[in-house]
Amino acid sequence: MDRIRIVGGRELNGTIPISGAKNATLPLMIASLLTDQTLILDNVPRLADVVQLQRILGNHGVDIMLGGKRPGDDEYKGQTMHLSAARIVDTTAPYELVSKMRASFWVIAPLVARMGEARVSMPGGCAIGTRPVDLLILAMERLGADIEIEGGYVVARASRGLRGGEIAFPKVTVSGTHTAVMAAVLADGTTVIENAAREPEVTDVADCLNKMGAKISGAGTSRIVIEGVPKLNGARHSVVPDRIETGTYAMAVAMTGGDLMLEGARPELLQAALDVLARADVNITSTNRGIRVSRNGAGLKPVEVTTEPFPGFPTDLQAQLMALMTRADGTSRITETIFENRFMHVQELARLGARIHLDGETATIEGVPRLRGAPVMATDLRASVSLVIAALAAQGETMVNRVYHLDRGFERLEDKLARCGAEIERVTS
Ligand code: EPU
Repeated sequence: MDRIRIVGGRELNGTIPISGAKNATLPLMIASLLTDQTLILDNVPRLADVVQLQRILGNHGVDIMLGGKRPGDDEYKGQTMHLSAARIVDTTAPYELVSKMRASFWVIAPLVARMGEARVSMPGGCAIGTRPVDLLILAMERLGADIEIEGGYVVARASRGLRGGEIAFPKVTVSGTHTAVMAAVLADGTTVIENAAREPEVTDVADCLNKMGAKISGAGTSRIVIEGVPKLNGARHSVVPDRIETGTYAMAVAMTGGDLMLEGARPELLQAALDVLARADVNITSTNRGIRVSRNGAGLKPVEVTTEPFPGFPTDLQAQLMALMTRADGTSRITETIFENRFMHVQELARLGARIHLDGETATIEGVPRLRGAPVMATDLRASVSLVIAALAAQGETMVNRVYHLDRGFERLEDKLARCGAEIERVTS
């Protein structure tokens, strides 16, 4: 199993190209099930989760072709993916596939919308909390699907098609909003989604669906209105830049000191996180190339942050911020309101010398003068990368185990950091 070896203490200087967003790519790929024509996605990141979803969609009959690298291509340029669901051969998403990646449950909406039925395994437990699917089921039911739970599978049927309806989510949910939108685009009549998620990935998927002929308005606000259409077409769409990758590298340079240009990053996708970094005394400037982040030896100020749905501070940057605050001059407080039990990084950061006290959903982080390298591992993607950030500033060597978590969501992380001066390498054993 691969590991990542880091020797801390080097500044980061240079340019990091920001990849396409994992959390937009996955639903965009799933949206290909809604049409018998070809959907072309540009700027697709090379990630293990993307490969896994290719397998899952392949099982339903989607033909997927990936654009190869041409001579002269920048090696960081995202891939171009052609997805063609001309014929759906299977409407079952089996446990073996869905249990590996929660987002694959979302195929339920396009399968029912296009085929009138779907049988999708319940995703099961997850390292960052229980993560139920009740609100996805609620959305499907509001649009006329009959739902039964049989042997661990959610079976959804709408033999005479879905029909538009009102969906008022009791809490903001990205997965629920994606499901509602994908079910509603081919439904008969108008759907109104209240308390919709406003995440940029929701907007990106809606933009793509509109290019495919859908009639969606209000994406990016908490009220989305969808006029159903009988059929969608193929289209070409470029995946939005990854705001979580952007925020992660911004925190990495805030941690080590130095000066990074995050190329292609868009500040409006993560303004809340940039504001927090500015409060911590990190320098941030936006240019037409991307976002420049630097810190030159000055101390970090502690911050108080609560995770919230977009446009608030994202839960997917909580672990990284915590790693950063282990070196602040004073005491920080971070409250996690989106997922219970998303604090697995706390114990591992402690192995590097961090002082963190957990009380319910709030972590209190007392800044320490130095961290020291140690072997660590984490059980989810964002927790793993928080250990990388801490290791970049720790004295001596850190070995990060279970690197497959990082490969799920960060495109060639060690390569991007090494090019900017980090002492980091993948150890294959
Ligand atoms: N929830 C329910 N019932 C549901 C669905 C969600 O109670 O039916 C709860 C969840 O348990 C959670 C809250 O609602 O407490 C928000 O969940 P949401 O549906 O918004 O999250 P998600 O769609 O499952 C996506 C991202 C996550 C990211 C969250 C929040 C993808 C593939 N995943 O998950 O990303 O943390 O939104 O922004 O888009 C990651 O990339 O590492 C990651 C975990």
